[in-house]
Amino acid sequence: MKFFVDTADLNEIKDLAATGLLDGVTTNPSLVAKSGHSNFIDLIKDICAIVSGPVSAEVAATDFDTMMAEGLYLSKIAKNIAVKVPLTPAGLKVCKVLSDQGTQVNVTLCFSAAQAILAAKAGATFVSPFVGRLDDIGESGMQLIADICEIYRAYPNFKTEVLVASVRSPMHVVEAAQLGAHVATIPPNVIRQLFTHPLTDKGLAQFVTDWAKTGQKILPDGVQPLKTRA
Ligand code: E4P
Repeated sequence: MKFFVDTADLNEIKDLAATGLLDGVTTNPSLVAKSGHSNFIDLIKDICAIVSGPVSAEVAATDFDTMMAEGLYLSKIAKNIAVKVPLTPAGLKVCKVLSDQGTQVNVTLCFSAAQAILAAKAGATFVSPFVGRLDDIGESGMQLIADICEIYRAYPNFKTEVLVASVRSPMHVVEAAQLGAHVATIPPNVIRQLFTHPLTDKGLAQFVTDWAKTGQKILPDGVQPLKTRA
C-alpha cells in the first residue's frame, strides 16, 4: 500500500519524506489556504522537488474550459504532478483529455461507487473516496472503499487506483489496507500515530535501562554516530 501525505505544509512534507516511507503528496484548496502560502505554483514546485512520487495539485475552476487550461498549466510544473479534478461531468471530461495525453489525474470528492465507476471509465490514475466525511454524516466510508475495490477487481481493464482520502485515524489506514486499497493519503498527525504503541515505549525504556546495567557499548572508541561524522 502506498502512503501519500495529505498536507500543503512544506516542513511536514520534508520531515516525513526523510522517513523514506512517503510515496506521494495530496493537496487541496483548503490545505493550501491553511498553509498560508501565497504562491500556489511555487508551493507545488517546492513539493515536487522534495517528493518524487505523485503530487496532487487541484484545479480551482469548475467549468470545463478554465479547468482544462489550469490542468494543462499545472501538468507542466513537474513530471510527477497529478492534476486533481472534482468528480463532476466537467471534471471527468478534463480527466479524460488529460489522461489520454499521459498526464496523471486524481479525481477527488468521490462519495459513491457509481461515481468511482465513472472516474475509472474516464481514465483516472487515482479516485479519491472521502471516508471521514462519509463517516461524519453517519454513512460508512469503509463500506464505500470495499465496494469500489470489489468493482475495480472485477474489471481488470480499469487501471484506476483507489486512493483513500479524508483519513482520520490509524484504523482507517489499517482497514483500507485490509480491503486492498492501493493508496491512503494521510494527514501528518495520523502518520505519526501509526508509529506509536504504549508497549513499544515501555519495552524500549526497559531495554535501555537493562543495557545500561551491562556497562557495555556497541560502537568501539572513535566510531561516531552518523550525524557527528565528518
Ligand atoms: C485529499 O485529497 C482530500 O482532499 C482530503 O483527504 C480531504 O480530507 P478532509 O475530509 O479531512 O478535509
